[in-house]
Amino acid sequence: MEPHSTQKKGRTCESCHQNPKALGLGYGKISLKDGKILFEALEKPQTKNKKVRLSQIVNLQGETLIKFNRKGMRGFNQEEIIRILRVGFCLNCHKENSPIFKHWKRNIVCPKFPEIFKAN
Ligand code: HEC
Ligand code: HEC
Repeated sequence: MEPHSTQKKGRTCESCHQNPKALGLGYGKISLKDGKILFEALEKPQTKNKKVRLSQIVNLQGETLIKFNRKGMRGFNQEEIIRILRVGFCLNCHKENSPIFKHWKRNIVCPKFPEIFKAN
């Protein structure tokens, strides 16, 4: 038995890999244009700094926008964010148990849609 779990099922891959909130970008929409990953915030800025939203701790450039109160804590950097989001695009067509995720290589390219993996 898992005492801390409130659900039988674990988190879905999408709940992280397609979820800008989980990555610290905040509420918004992820899209792909010409092989480049874009993020559009869907929350209005609420502080003096117009570039920062309440649900946000990093931006797509990997810059941490808030102060953490615990030593060693940080947001994902740009490389990590892009890596995680790329997996999310593959999940739109490939099931989570697909061999492509078991034999994942960072430079893996989809033979059908090679443009998905262009550098950001
Ligand atoms: C709780 C959040 C979370 C869940 C759920 C999750 N992942 Fe991840 N995944 C991550 C993080 C964080 C990384 C690490 C990124 C890094 O360190 O570069 C990662 C890395 C990966 C990578 C390697 C990407 C790379 O290029 O290095 C693959 C592939 C991957 N996940 C597939 C999956 C699949 C398939 C599932 C579902 C079966 C899944 N993940 C579920 C958070 C998650
Ligand atoms: C819009 C749909 C779509 C997306 C998004 C997509 N693929 Fe594919 N992929 C396909 C189709 C269709 C095939 C060929 C038919 C098949 O084998 O399922 C394929 C085949 C592959 C193959 C050949 C091996 C195999 O399983 O057939 C690899 C590897 C692969 N994709 C990797 C990726 C990766 C990595 C991503 C994310 C960067 C990705 N794909 C995103 C549709 C997609």
